[in-house]
Amino acid sequence: MEKPLFNLPAYYYSRFYHCLLPILSKLPVSQQIKIASRGRLFFMQQFSKQKFIQTDTFSENNRLSKTLWGIKFRTPLGNSAGMFKNGEGYDTVAKLGAGFYIGGTSTANPRNGNSKNGIDLPFISLPKSGAAINWLGLPNLGDDKLHKKIITESKLADCPIGWSVMRSPDYAESEGIEHLINSLWLYHDNPQIDFLELNESCPNIKAGGGNIIPRIEQISIAFLQKRQRKLPIILKISNDIDENALVEIIHSAINLGFDGINLGNTSTNYVDLRHWIDLDDRKLFDYFTQTFGGGVSGKVLGNNSLTLCATAVNEVRRIKPQQEFHVIRSGGINSPEDIVASEKIGVSLNQWYTGFFDNYTRYGNNVYKNLYAGK
Ligand SMILES: Cc1cc2nc3c(=O)[nH]c(=O)nc-3n(C[C@H](O)[C@H](O)[C@H](O)COP(=O)(O)O)c2cc1C
Repeated sequence: MEKPLFNLPAYYYSRFYHCLLPILSKLPVSQQIKIASRGRLFFMQQFSKQKFIQTDTFSENNRLSKTLWGIKFRTPLGNSAGMFKNGEGYDTVAKLGAGFYIGGTSTANPRNGNSKNGIDLPFISLPKSGAAINWLGLPNLGDDKLHKKIITESKLADCPIGWSVMRSPDYAESEGIEHLINSLWLYHDNPQIDFLELNESCPNIKAGGGNIIPRIEQISIAFLQKRQRKLPIILKISNDIDENALVEIIHSAINLGFDGINLGNTSTNYVDLRHWIDLDDRKLFDYFTQTFGGGVSGKVLGNNSLTLCATAVNEVRRIKPQQEFHVIRSGGINSPEDIVASEKIGVSLNQWYTGFFDNYTRYGNNVYKNLYAGK
C-alpha cells in the first residue's frame, strides 16, 4: 500500500479526488477505473486509521437511539458490510457518530479478491449519478485470523458491533456451508460482536446461486438453534429479489429462527439501472458492467430497497413472529429524507455505503452530525 505524502485528514483526499474528476474524465475509461480502484484502497486505509477526529463531532442523542434485540443503537444508521472487510475502522465511524458498525464480509479462507486487465479489486464511483460499481470479489484475511481480531479498545455502549460472514465460493456448496457454520461459531465466541449478518447476496463471486432456503435450513439446525448467548443474526439478500421469492424467504427465515432481514445488496440489473445513470456517467457504466460485471450501489437502489422493505415489513406484521424480527434497509440511503422514509414504513435500521462517502466528501467529519441536524 502506498504511503501518503502528507498526513492529511482523510476527507482532504476524497475532496482532492473529486476536484480532479473533470480532468480524470478525459482519460480512457480503463485508466479511470484503474485510478479509482487504487485510489479507493489508498483512501480506505487513510480513512480507517484516522486518529484526530474530535469526539464532540456528534454527541449522543437519545431521541434517535433505539433498542433492538436488547442492544442499544445510538441511531438507526451505520455502515453496511464491505466497508471494513478486515474489521478496521470502528473507532473512526464511532467517533463520527455511527449508530452501529459492521465488519466483513469475511469468508472461512483468506481471499485476494478479483483482478482483471491489470486492475485489482475493480471499482468506480459515478458521482453525478450518486452511484458506484464494484467487482471486488470478497477480499478478506479469512475467519481464522479475523475472529480473533480486537476490533476496538474503546467500544461505545451504544455503538454495537456486527459482523458479516459468507459461505466461501472456493469450496463446493456443502463443504462451504460446513466451513461457514464453523466460522459462525468462531464469531459467536468473540464477545465484542453483538450481532451477525449472513451475506446470501454477493453478486461478485462464482458461487452458484442455488436455492437459499435449504442452505439457511442447515445453518439454522447447526447454529441458530444452538446459540449459547444473545447473538441476533440477520439474513442479507439482494435488492434484485423478486417480491414473491422475498415473501417465501421471510417465512422461512422467521421459522428457522433468524432475527432480521436486510434488503439488501448491490444490483446487477444493469438494463433497468442504466436509465437512472447520468448521461455523463454512461460510458463508464457500460464499460465497467461489460468488462467486469459487478454490483451497482447508491441512489439508483433507493426506490427498490424501500419497496422491498415495505413488502418485508408488511409480511412480518402479518406473520407476527414469536422472536423479535427486524427489517433492515440497505441500498440508496443518502439523506435525512431517506431515513424518514424508512421509519415511516417500519424499517428498524438503515445501512449506507455509497451515500456515506458521497456525504463524507461534502461534509467531512460532520457526516453524521449534518445528517441529524435539526432532528
Ligand atoms: C465497494 C463495495 C464493497 C461491498 N462489499 C460488500 C460485502 O463485502 N458484503 C456485503 O454484504 N455487501 C457489500 N457491499 C454492498 C453494500 O453493503 C450495500 O449493501 C450496497 O452497496 C447498497 O448500499 P448503498 O447503496 O448504500 O451503497 C459492498 C458495496 C460496495 C460499494
